[in-house]
Amino acid sequence: MGVIGVLTAGGDCPGLNAVIRGVVSKAVESGIDVVGIRDGWDGLMHDHTMPLDRESVRGILGRGGTILGTSRMDPYVHGEGLSSCEPTLTRNGIDKLVVIGGDGTLRSAMALADEGLHVIGVPKTIDNDIAGTDVTFGFQTAVQIATDAIDRLATTAEAHNRVVVVEVMGRTRGWIATHAGIAGGADYILIPEVPYDVDEVVDILRARHRSGHRYSILVVAEGIDPPPGYPAITNKKDTFGFERLGGVAYQVADAIEDHTSFETRVTILGHIQRGGSPVAADRVLATRLGVKATELAMADRSNVMVAVRGTELVACPIEEATSSIRGVPEELYATARTCFG
Ligand code: F6P
Repeated sequence: MGVIGVLTAGGDCPGLNAVIRGVVSKAVESGIDVVGIRDGWDGLMHDHTMPLDRESVRGILGRGGTILGTSRMDPYVHGEGLSSCEPTLTRNGIDKLVVIGGDGTLRSAMALADEGLHVIGVPKTIDNDIAGTDVTFGFQTAVQIATDAIDRLATTAEAHNRVVVVEVMGRTRGWIATHAGIAGGADYILIPEVPYDVDEVVDILRARHRSGHRYSILVVAEGIDPPPGYPAITNKKDTFGFERLGGVAYQVADAIEDHTSFETRVTILGHIQRGGSPVAADRVLATRLGVKATELAMADRSNVMVAVRGTELVACPIEEATSSIRGVPEELYATARTCFG
């Protein structure tokens, strides 16, 4: 076997360095060379690489971000697919590629595999919404950060007798909102997959305040629809063509103040959810995913990603990951709802 290339693409995620360390450690143990590709697909198209050995991945397990850098470039949007990557692959002797990325990245990885490159995917997003796997690394860290924020917001909200609307990431699915909302004891949680009724939200807040509670916390996913009567928020698009989200919490807060006399404040957690050190569970998961990715590369597998099924890691076709988006199960949201107010 030749050389394994590894890249991280799309938005960063706590645990990326732990995956890279797992990939490299397994390869080194097996006598295989690894080349790191800088800044995602951009580095693969423009031959920005770095050698990776055991020394270069020491001390990175708990570090946030990615030592390789990342970008939202795409070999099919900003290049000609495999032919744009071939010079880099050839110059570095890379015959297997481990791609750590979200659904957009995995879609490009699948296309490269269809063109004949040996590709192993590692699903990555704090949003936890990639199909085919039970969970993605980085999610637990994001939930912990959001839960800590909710705990802090609750004490200042109580001091001032306020409602606080906390906006968390979750482009089309509300995994972080639901988990952090349950863990933080949110009084209502709004997620993209469940339509909401402002009157019902307001009734719950009123009942809570009537029974003597001095504050309420609402958790909203960034991707929810605006409340009725409010315009869709239009932000700039990123280089993948996805709209940048953020700000719907202000509309929700405005609607609550319109319907009640409760003073309301907004906190948008944004990228703080992706920064910093991964929690222990994510470090373990990411390490396992990295080691397994190298094992699959060594076994000559291609066009598969490492997926979590229960407590096991399995190889699942990348196509499974890209054919749908995994939403919050109704039962989980119903459990959250039971504790609203
Ligand atoms: O892909 C996950 C995600 O965290 C989304 O929830 C969010 O909308 C997006 O990334 C923001 O990414 P960036 O601002 O880095 O482009």
